[in-house]
This record gives sequence, structure tokens and C-alpha cells, in this order.
Amino acid sequence: MLEFAGLTKRYGSVVALDNLSLDVPPGRLFGLLGPNGAGKSTAMKLVFGLVRADGGEVRWDGEPVAHRDRLRFGYLPEERGLYPKMRIADQLAYFGRLHGLSRADARSRAAHWLERLGVAERAKDRAEALSLGNQQRVQLAAALIHEPELLVLDEPFSGLDPVAVDALSEVLAERAAAGVTVVFSSHQLDLVEDLCDSVAIIHRGQLVLSGVVRDLKRRSGQRRLNVVIEGESDTAWATGVPGVTVQEANGAGTTLLLDPDVDALAMLQRAAAVGRVVDFGLSLPPLSQLFRDAVRAPA
Ligand SMILES: Nc1ncnc2c1ncn2[C@@H]1O[C@H](COP(=O)(O)OP(=O)(O)O)[C@@H](O)[C@H]1O
Ligand SMILES: [Mg+2]
Repeated sequence: MLEFAGLTKRYGSVVALDNLSLDVPPGRLFGLLGPNGAGKSTAMKLVFGLVRADGGEVRWDGEPVAHRDRLRFGYLPEERGLYPKMRIADQLAYFGRLHGLSRADARSRAAHWLERLGVAERAKDRAEALSLGNQQRVQLAAALIHEPELLVLDEPFSGLDPVAVDALSEVLAERAAAGVTVVFSSHQLDLVEDLCDSVAIIHRGQLVLSGVVRDLKRRSGQRRLNVVIEGESDTAWATGVPGVTVQEANGAGTTLLLDPDVDALAMLQRAAAVGRVVDFGLSLPPLSQLFRDAVRAPA
């Protein structure tokens, strides 16, 4: 298991991480979330010893992470960079060799991952000839080539087209199912919500919320009721009810935010008294709402 144990990191007077403790469950997709500057990249760099902690440590299976562990980790760093003049397949095979693969394995796995990430036809091109999105696919292949036990990916989805997003989502889910711990940061919260079992939200270097996404949603106590009343756009029926906020009212109906003690069925009955209810749905808040609430509150 990967553990961030009481990590503190300062850059001069800036406190990037402030006693951050976090356990990342093994064999899962884990989303490390937070606004710009929250400390996500710093936490990831600490796993790889790229910056030195002022306090605390990163542990793998109960022990401080050592060089030999990092050989079995895969990393997509914040600063992207391939050797510009080196051909893609050669470059990947080289990274594989660095992680201890045989020449033959390195070659075949390079081909495999280029295929999986949709850049197989660029194998013989130099990195500099590829678009940024394709370079990123190659770097993801580099993080995967040695079949790491832990994957740490700093905003792996940023800059990818929808086809690449799908390919990467599939690969990450598959790796997690194979027992790999996958930690990634992203601002694409709809995607995170679809992919991740668990998330942590950090803000100003501190943990503000963490857990299984479904539990966090339930625990928020928020529900949304969307109601479509035929030919009715007025929301007077829902206004002034204690614990009910009209969040949105448009052609797609009226969306109400319900406080924990509000009876959703009673609200639906109020709607039905106004006109014919042609559609309705009760849902938990999206992750993006939990994120906004978490980072709005003082850290
Ligand atoms: N090399 C650095 N020198 C000075 N400040 C830094 C450096 N790297 C990060 N920071 C600061 O540390 C904080 C956390 O940054 P970072 O870990 O990159 O956050 P995130 O990845 O969540 O956007 C920010 O305030 C950032 O400006
Ligand atoms: Mg970052």
C-alpha cells in the first residue's frame, strides 16, 4: 500500500504540503484532486524522491520508499519530456531496459503499449515530430512498459483527445483490476467520477476530503430532484419551501437541491399538483459539487 505519512514540503515561504497523511488503497484507481497549487504534483514528486520532504515520508508496504521500489513504479511527471531526436519505439525500449527488461521484452512491450495507446503507426518517428497529445501517449507508454506495481500519473488525461481518453481509461481500469495501485490527478471530475473508486481532495497542502466516491456523496447529505412538468416553467411551487433551493430551471425541467431532512416524495407531490409530471429523477451530487464545497470551506 502507498502511504503519505505526515508530509510537509516548503518551497521557501510557500507551504506546498502541510502535514498531509493519506493511504492509497491497493489495486484501485485513486483520484488525487485539488485546485491549482494544492500540492498534488509535489506529493507525487515526493514518491519519486524528486523533491525532499521537510517532514514525514512516503511509504510502500509499510517501509519508506527506496530506490529499488521506484524501479517497480511508473510515473508520468508534471513536466513532460521525451528525447526529441530519438525514435519513439527505440526510446520506449530504452526506458524498458532501464527498468530491467530484456532487450526482446523491451521491444515487444514497446510495440504493445504503442498499439494500446493508439500511436503504433508513429513508432519509427522521432518524438519531436509528434503532436503534444501523441507525445503524451508515448510518455504514458513509458510509464507502463515495465508493468509497474504502482502507477503515479500527474494529469494524464490533460491534452488528450476523446479517443485517447477512452484508451487510457480502459488501460488504467485494466491495470487496477490486475492489482496495480493507480494514483492520478485530474481536473476532469466527470471522468474521475466514472473511473475512480476513491478520491482525496487536497487544498492548500492539506487533506480536506477523502474516501469512496459513493460514500462521500451519500455523506454529503445533498440530493437533487429534477422535475419536468408538462408546459410549466414557473418554479413558484418549489420556492419558499424550507430546505429546498431551486438550482436551475430551464427547458430540461427544474432542479432542486434538497437538504437532508426534506422529503423528496412530498416535493414531487407538490409538483404533481401543478401539472402533469412527465419526468423526474433523484440523484446524489456530482463529484464536482463535492469538490467545490470542499475547497470553498476554509482549509
Ligand atoms: N519548485 C518550486 N518552487 C517554488 N514553489 C513551488 C515549486 N513547486 C511548487 N511550488 C508551489 O507549491 C505549491 C503546490 O504546487 P503543486 O504541488 O505544483 O500543486 P498542484 O500540482 O496541486 O497544482 C504551489 O503554491 C506552487 O506554486
Ligand atoms: Mg500539478
